Amino acid sequence: MLQETIPDLSKFVEPDRVRREVYVDPRIFELEMQRIHERVWIYCGHESQVPKPGDYWTVRIGRQPMVMVRGADGRVHVLYNRCPHRGAMLCGDQHGNTGAFFRCSYHAWTFHHDGRLRNIPMMESGYAGTRLSRDNPDCHVKPAARVESYRGFVFASLAADGPTLAEFLGEARVAFDDMCDRAPAGEVEIVPNCFRVVQHSNWKIFLENQLDALHPSVTHQSAGRAAHEVEKEIERRTGKAPLSYHMLSAFATVTIDKWDAFQTLNYPYGHCLLTGYMGLRPRDPDTLAYEAALEKAYGKKRAEEILSVNIHHVLIYPGLSVQPQLQQLRAVRPLSVDRTLTEIWHFRLKGAPEAIYRRALAYYNLVNSPSTMINADDLENFWKCHQGLASAGGDWVSFHRHYGRDVEKDGVVSSGPNMGTSEAPMRNQMKAWVQYMTAEK
Ligand code: FES
Ligand SMILES: [Fe+2]
Repeated sequence: MLQETIPDLSKFVEPDRVRREVYVDPRIFELEMQRIHERVWIYCGHESQVPKPGDYWTVRIGRQPMVMVRGADGRVHVLYNRCPHRGAMLCGDQHGNTGAFFRCSYHAWTFHHDGRLRNIPMMESGYAGTRLSRDNPDCHVKPAARVESYRGFVFASLAADGPTLAEFLGEARVAFDDMCDRAPAGEVEIVPNCFRVVQHSNWKIFLENQLDALHPSVTHQSAGRAAHEVEKEIERRTGKAPLSYHMLSAFATVTIDKWDAFQTLNYPYGHCLLTGYMGLRPRDPDTLAYEAALEKAYGKKRAEEILSVNIHHVLIYPGLSVQPQLQQLRAVRPLSVDRTLTEIWHFRLKGAPEAIYRRALAYYNLVNSPSTMINADDLENFWKCHQGLASAGGDWVSFHRHYGRDVEKDGVVSSGPNMGTSEAPMRNQMKAWVQYMTAEK
């Protein structure tokens, strides 16, 4: 049991199992925010969310309210959303344009987009002889310690030291390469708003579900079967059902043994990847037009290489789940030990036909939106898991599936052949968790 102070955290995690307190103890949650979320690279947003100077989006990093803003110099800055005067948040809205500078709504201190003080009302008459002066760094809005972006995806770290973004992402950068390479123009742009879901469960339960390749054929079987029945009926009548039915019916038609045919790859820092399962290369006119645009941009060989990358999911620990082939991602914002906000974002492939966007949008709406049965079934599992873990019905969470058969090579752990349903990704995430939580500061 936890004592007055939290004992050696590494005792809570064994290679194949984890103690339940890791998910339900509020003190562990606070430590996670300090040692993980407020240290590592966290996804803030996409550069195309803030195209013009003064455009901003507010975002949460760990427990910190932050604001991502485009400066007049074209650079993207990430600042604490806090006025240095009496602490008011500078941006109360979720997003907008702040104009040529930030102006605090309380006493009108103003700041440049990079957080530097611009002006204080009554500077001369009100502050003469006080310790507050224009050169005092305490007058600036505090910036995130580090901000970097990769192919337009902006990350910030609240710690001055640590790996660079490129080092942190490592092989998992394929999430962004695969997504952007699929655009004839080589980049994506944000679809301007997202779904937001508050899950009544710990943040790790969501992440552990993302590469859990066994659960779809159980949890999503009923929704998949219903879609499959309708799909067959439409095929019987017309010869061809819209692809959107396949997106749902695949949950039922891809059975557990088929899921096992795929593979998981597990990288340093807790990142993981699950190879693809859905055939999404039909030969309809829209797909052919898209493939022609890609060939025109890249040449035949490179276009074929891009299209043959088949990744279902990349998880960038501890806050991002990316489906590059479908141009979407989910950002995880822990709110408390049993509340987690997920933002579900969608992107357009620049230079691709509108119909290709519509197809990916169908998946976004059918599978990942709050209104679909797929997402609802996942949410119910997450809530049930959290309730069970909060009980005295057992001490451990099991990650034993295919344990002992992982293959490690050059720092990358892969689930063995035909072990796509391995719990290796969960083991990998908890391995990183221990490293972060017990690291010397
Ligand atoms: S709190 Fe911002 S100007 Fe006073
Ligand atoms: Fe699911």
